[in-house]
Amino acid sequence: MNFSDLRSILQYVPQFRGRTFVVALDGAVIDSPDFSNILLDLAVLRSLNIKVVLVHGAAAQIEALGAKRHVPLSNIDGTGVTDEATLEVSMDAITRLSNSVMQSLTTVKLKAATANAIHAHPAGIIKGIDAGFTGTIEKIDGSVLQSFLDQDILPVVPPLGFDADGQTLRVNSDAVAREVATALDAAKVIFVSTEDPRAVLIDRQHQWSGEDAISFIDSHPALSVGMVSKLRHAARATRDGVPRVHLISSRSEDALLSELFSNEGVGVMVYSDAYQKVRPATRGDIDELYLLIHRAIEDEQLIDRSRSDIQGAIEDYIVLEIDGNVVGCVAVHPYPGSAKAELACLYVKKGHTGQGYGSILVGAAIDRAKKLGSGNLFALSTQAAGYLERAGFTRSEDLTLLPEERREKWATNGRNAVLLIRNLR
Ligand SMILES: CC(C)(COP(=O)(O)OP(=O)(O)OC[C@H]1O[C@@H](n2cnc3c(N)ncnc32)[C@H](O)[C@@H]1OP(=O)(O)O)[C@@H](O)C(=O)NCCC(=O)NCCS
Repeated sequence: MNFSDLRSILQYVPQFRGRTFVVALDGAVIDSPDFSNILLDLAVLRSLNIKVVLVHGAAAQIEALGAKRHVPLSNIDGTGVTDEATLEVSMDAITRLSNSVMQSLTTVKLKAATANAIHAHPAGIIKGIDAGFTGTIEKIDGSVLQSFLDQDILPVVPPLGFDADGQTLRVNSDAVAREVATALDAAKVIFVSTEDPRAVLIDRQHQWSGEDAISFIDSHPALSVGMVSKLRHAARATRDGVPRVHLISSRSEDALLSELFSNEGVGVMVYSDAYQKVRPATRGDIDELYLLIHRAIEDEQLIDRSRSDIQGAIEDYIVLEIDGNVVGCVAVHPYPGSAKAELACLYVKKGHTGQGYGSILVGAAIDRAKKLGSGNLFALSTQAAGYLERAGFTRSEDLTLLPEERREKWATNGRNAVLLIRNLR
């Protein structure tokens, strides 16, 4: 690792320090060889003063114990019917698993305690069938969890709830993670499973809004039950105020840390609105914009601009922010009197390309030009003509279509850029 990698990792630390992360592990992850790495990563998070709550599932262990005892199970993930025999197997499997998780945490010198923090009631009749001992979460006892966190104790939350009569109920761990995160005002939920979400959720973009996640589920009926559950809870959590929910595979190397300490991560992230923002640039962005584009200027992808050029036209610029960092920009220069506007300075930072951000910026530029009342938007490009053609621009050789002052600049700056036009009416 070099120092610039370290710098880019450390930039995240101040915003995470003192915040709560809910890490939700599928039972299968705890039995896998990847678990020891996850334990080390949890210790790193704690050393950075990030508060961690561990929620675990137990479907794999319940299934295995049911098979060993020859008990036919009515449901293993806490979403269907839990009959009495299944509840008994589930309670045994979950209790053993929680204990084993606690033991493992002590091997990385983390103090931990199991917390019975889930108030639930019987789910009742679902689709005409009595769900038996399956519970619906009513409330999370946030004060119990918070008091553990305040004492530097990592709470381990098993997927069991208790009703007002003290009856134990089986609850789904994905739902537990979401409810715990909402109750503790957590900064993140991180779902870790053995399934690779990037392989399953084949999509160019790995950051989704809650709405994207739901429409993806609706249009992909073959998704696994586990993935659907995580995406649904992720969408709901972001609606309930959790800023980010990550889905990662325990199998990718350094999964937890890579996902958290890089902008693009290794998994899939569902975000609340604040994560990705397209906004008009302000004077405070001038230095960042200049630093952002100067490499592209050196490579002659963009026309030369000084700081004062940017400053003089700052109200023309639009920036794209990811997680509070500016990663792309575009400018729309109006030509008053000609009903034309120029799309210029389109740039997406290296390391962030190929995620659709360029097309988001082009879309924002088109919207801005329409608002300005422009009948067409033109661009002069040396190296991205093909890109703009894909975005609906058409090449033209007819330079008389340019506003006069721009035509003169084209003729004298020696870039020999290609003219592209998009009709806005
Ligand atoms: C051009 C640029 C803005 C695209 O940003 P981006 O966020 O990667 O774009 P998107 O994610 O929307 O689109 C990616 C697609 O465009 C293609 N693409 C990227 N740059 C391209 C180019 N210069 N010419 C043709 N296609 C290009 C990619 O290959 C990718 O194709 P795929 O969907 O088939 O995989 C970015 O590469 C950039 O900043 N380039 C340097 C500056 C520049 O040339 N700006 C244009 C000035 S007019």
